[in-house]
Amino acid sequence: MNPLNHVAIIMDGNGRWGLKHKNSRNAGHKAGLITVENIIRETIKNKIRYLTLYAFSTENWRRPKKEINYLFNLLENFLINRIEDLNNQNIKLKIIGDKNFSKKLNKLIFFSEKKTSKNNKLQINLALNYGSKFELINSFKKLSKNKERINEINFEKYLQTKNIPDPDLLIRTGNTKRLSNFLLWQLAYSEIYFEKKLWPDFKIKDYNRILKSFKKIKRNFGSI
Ligand code: IPE
Ligand code: IPE
Ligand code: MG
Repeated sequence: MNPLNHVAIIMDGNGRWGLKHKNSRNAGHKAGLITVENIIRETIKNKIRYLTLYAFSTENWRRPKKEINYLFNLLENFLINRIEDLNNQNIKLKIIGDKNFSKKLNKLIFFSEKKTSKNNKLQINLALNYGSKFELINSFKKLSKNKERINEINFEKYLQTKNIPDPDLLIRTGNTKRLSNFLLWQLAYSEIYFEKKLWPDFKIKDYNRILKSFKKIKRNFGSI
């Protein structure tokens, strides 16, 4: 049985779900939040230590302003309403990405990260304004500026995921088979599952089906 420390998820398909069921992409984002809550609960049940959720990419700024505003509103409300409970559940929240938001959101993020920083049951890394290429370039820039030797250990020091083990498993919902600029370095040896269901349709039993299948895979890491 493979140890499972870290699950990363590209939560895709909200827009299509919303259009299909409520004729509104934003309704899909709202519905997707319920899946987020369910998956967090199930991740804890499965004793997994790290859960990384892709919530907003550096490319998602290309979307209509109305949708972007809706997404950030959802996020702000999530942090305002849920951080107390997450903290009570011993969950640590970390934002990965370029933290360059409105004053209000920056403050909320700072407060949420600080409040939960000592927790150790589950660490949730929320990828927000995250782009892997930006992250990699940034790390190279830091190495070069500090005139440090270029090796894996030094390079990883400057990644957003510093001190976080690489994902064992990546799940992408929404029936699309691509990485969309997510954790390109960190996923080098992860097992990848492309799930047909749209994120709001992704249920606990679907998650557990993937976790079960993951545990049986023979992971070689180049060996035999
Ligand atoms: C993923 O769902 C959530 C975000 C990018 C915020 P999408 O909004 O990409 O949903 P589809 O892919 O358009 O259905
Ligand atoms: C990836 O989904 C980003 C998130 C889930 C936050 P997208 O829906 O933005 O990906 P592309 O643009 O279709 O590849
Ligand atoms: Mg999408």
